[in-house]
Amino acid sequence: MKKNILVTGGAGYIGSHTVLELLEEGYGVTVVDNLSNSSEESLRRVEKLTGKRARFVLGDIRDAKLLDEVFASEKYYAVIHFAGLKAVGESVREPLQYYDNNVSGTLVLLGSMKKAGVKTMIFSSSATVYGIPEKLPLTEDCRLSAINPYGATKLVIEGILQDLQRAEPDWNMMLLRYFNPVGAHESGEIGEDPKGIPNNLMPYIAQVATGRLEKLRVFGNDYPTPDGTGVRDYIHVVDLAKGHVAALKGYVEPGVHITNLGTGKGYSVLEMVHAFEKACGKPIPYEITARRAGDTAACYASAEKAKRELGWQAELGIDEMCSSTWNWQKKNPEGYGC
Ligand code: NAD
Ligand code: WQD
Repeated sequence: MKKNILVTGGAGYIGSHTVLELLEEGYGVTVVDNLSNSSEESLRRVEKLTGKRARFVLGDIRDAKLLDEVFASEKYYAVIHFAGLKAVGESVREPLQYYDNNVSGTLVLLGSMKKAGVKTMIFSSSATVYGIPEKLPLTEDCRLSAINPYGATKLVIEGILQDLQRAEPDWNMMLLRYFNPVGAHESGEIGEDPKGIPNNLMPYIAQVATGRLEKLRVFGNDYPTPDGTGVRDYIHVVDLAKGHVAALKGYVEPGVHITNLGTGKGYSVLEMVHAFEKACGKPIPYEITARRAGDTAACYASAEKAKRELGWQAELGIDEMCSSTWNWQKKNPEGYGC
């Protein structure tokens, strides 16, 4: 029988790529999204690509009545919980909004799940929970800390999920800690569509390549890294999406399953710039500026646990990350345009 998955935040960047993989794998999908940082166009394009439709419910995860109705309308195997706000700088300026949306939203969702007897959840956690890395590569048992309110919401939610599972051992909680998701589906039909000026490196470079932004500012070249610029574990969003399917299939027993989703390899800002230049066939103008507050020199995963427990590992490398981003950006210079 077809397993139904409720995907919160499924119209967003990682969500839409995951919905596509779920549909391809034969799952039934319902998306609940308030479209605060996305457009329903992403799901229309997923339908065009797969020939299969995800049910879309426009709504907020803090709306218990709406969630109860959604859970009453169908039997769900699991919830994949992407919905949340994710801009670090904004979280520093608007902490209450972040705690309300991310933490209160998750509490309401868990309440509805409990009522409906749906006790399997995949939660979008983040490498941000490691704060300033204790050691590299980061293993799942490394010390955790929050260095901004966004990171604090992820840590609090991880704690809530673990406390609930301890109190009610029939819950199956999968906490997936993503490193730096980049890239787009190979079709160039879906991709990352940040509102306003991008905060993250890859979409910023992509908009410099189209001429929408003048030049990249490289935040510091005096880090203790091979070329002095920050090193991160960039992971292709299609690999990341497949990691969710692997978790759904691999973690079937109740418990708390905590897993990094990264490649295990770090690239510097300048390595990313040069790889993107190769992909788009033109120079990316940049200037070196001061370090950005709160940045760390290097951050990359140990990807061993996901490989061992789920048989999952990232397949796509830096060239595919850059070429797929460029393909998406070139085809959609204004994103989804809504
Ligand atoms: P995104 O903003 O593209 O997607 C999040 C989606 O959630 C959006 O469609 C938004 O409209 C929706 N949403 C937000 N608040 C909601 C609410 N209260 N009710 C209903 N829908 C709501 O972001 P993304 O990059 O796809 O990230 C997905 C998840 O992964 C987030 O939880 C994010 O914190 C986490 N994450 C992202 C990254 C990253 O760099 N992109 C890294 C680690 C973890
Ligand atoms: C990558 C590198 C910058 C922009 C953030 C969140 C993290 C996670 C992923 C959600 C760094 C440098 C960037 C620019 C630059 N999100 N850079 N010029 O900071 O590793 O992680 O997104 O969970 O929580 O903090 O990603 O893409 O912003 O930066 O030089 O214009 O690029 O200094 O070295 P980051 P990023």
